[in-house]
Amino acid sequence: MAVLRILTGDDNPILRARAKPVERVTKDVQKLLRDMRETMDHAKGVGLAAPQIGVSFRICIATIDGKPTPLINPKILSKSKESVICEEGCLSLPESWTPVPRAKGIAISYLDAKGKKKERQLSDFNARVVQHELDHLDGKLIVDYAESVLRVARKKDTVTI
Ligand code: NI
Repeated sequence: MAVLRILTGDDNPILRARAKPVERVTKDVQKLLRDMRETMDHAKGVGLAAPQIGVSFRICIATIDGKPTPLINPKILSKSKESVICEEGCLSLPESWTPVPRAKGIAISYLDAKGKKKERQLSDFNARVVQHELDHLDGKLIVDYAESVLRVARKKDTVTI
């Protein structure tokens, strides 16, 4: 196992790319997942996506119910209408904390580390972490939400005044 270097910067081309689907869960993918887990634990993160360590494939680890869970080719099947705004940080943007709106609940499908297809319902913190990691697989970062959060804040101000 190895602790890998985490890419940083909101203009990094790998962090900004749409990652490719995994065709088969091979031993190499399993080794990558072990290295990602070690890297995430070392950085004290609650999630890590493969593009963050320079690998542009749809692979991530998300802490679900306190357990680091490998997700391969994860997809959101449905989202709750209700969304919640909460401040998020990101290992790839060490200096910035951004309020990000996320669906309160989601249903996802993914392949586990053995390549077995799974489906799960997630809510609150679990749903937030997974939505953050899925954004990484689409080249999206928390700073991209700054504008939408400002719009919500402005709307609220209008009502208050
Ligand atoms: Ni992140």
